[in-house]
Amino acid sequence: MGKTSRNFIIKTIGGPVGVIDGPTDCSAMRTGRECEIEARPDTRAEPTADPRYVWAVDSAAVQAMRCPLDHADFTTAPGRLVCRSGHSFDIAKQGYVNVTVAGEKSANLRSDDLAMVTARQRFLATGAFDPILHAVASRMPQATSEQASQLFVELGAGTAAYLAAALETAPSAHGIAVDLSVPATIRAARSHPRATALVSDSWAPLPIADGVADAVIVAFAPRNLAEIARILRPGGRLVLASAKPAHIHQLREEFELLGIATKNTDRVSVPAEQVGMAVTEVNELEFVMTLQPPQVADLILMGPNAWHVDREELRAQVMLTATPRDVTAAVGLWVLERR
Ligand SMILES: C[S@@+](CC[C@H](N)C(=O)[O-])C[C@H]1O[C@@H](n2cnc3c(N)ncnc32)[C@H](O)[C@@H]1O
Ligand SMILES: [Zn+2]
Repeated sequence: MGKTSRNFIIKTIGGPVGVIDGPTDCSAMRTGRECEIEARPDTRAEPTADPRYVWAVDSAAVQAMRCPLDHADFTTAPGRLVCRSGHSFDIAKQGYVNVTVAGEKSANLRSDDLAMVTARQRFLATGAFDPILHAVASRMPQATSEQASQLFVELGAGTAAYLAAALETAPSAHGIAVDLSVPATIRAARSHPRATALVSDSWAPLPIADGVADAVIVAFAPRNLAEIARILRPGGRLVLASAKPAHIHQLREEFELLGIATKNTDRVSVPAEQVGMAVTEVNELEFVMTLQPPQVADLILMGPNAWHVDREELRAQVMLTATPRDVTAAVGLWVLERR
């Protein structure tokens, strides 16, 4: 029987999708801002188990996870993950697990805030970046006949749109999305029924076992090649997407935005060789997007420029031009294979 109350979708471990009443403790609600969880009508079945039992993480993800404190494996308990040595990490009501270690987050690490994440989600939903999403998803490895399931990991995942697109192409794959931003991870947790979302720092040891990932995705986000090499299985792939100098150059000129550091293959391939990975593909994707003013504002404010501009002023400035703008997307795509 469907429920009529406001619910949000949850995932039950190793089982079907369920629901839990909510949200009850959205901090954004308390501050009167947009709530981080949009309640939506539930059309799914009533949950059959105690809602405090484990949800939002799936068993394949738990098996691949390791405790950030001692690398022990995890078991599930109601509402939390517990490592073999007893370290416990709560599963938040919004569906993510924060596996950062207290004090680990360095002061100079900046993760995306709610407004940036909301802008990103809105912009990606318009489909303007779909060619990039498809390009990444099309580079996922095929499951071999011996593999019952695959594991894809996205680092600096944001809303985990790339992971979700990849999971859509691979029915037996499960995904782990990692991001340091809680608002991003809340969305990543709901990006796909087979995705599990973790709050964790890409620069710290990842809470994932050695050699378990079939693919790692890093799109416009920090990449720690040593840790990526460690979690990839031999033959596993890293698919990297990063902005080329021509990326959104029209907007950088019009609004005096941050420049893009020149990325060349050496910056990927030299350190990759050192950690046992080889570049197997270097490609560039360039296309022109015709963007309406609200898309332009979201595209600018979903990225690092948001930290350097007056956001309201920029949005107002963008809206002064009512006509659409042609904006170049120029993205480097690299595929690297773990030896
Ligand atoms: C430009 S966004 C890209 C998000 C997503 N990959 C996409 O393309 O839609 C960069 C993301 O990296 C995350 N991030 C930044 N530093 C990080 C770190 N040290 N560890 C994990 N995530 C980080 C940010 O919170 C943000 O979500
Ligand atoms: Zn532990």
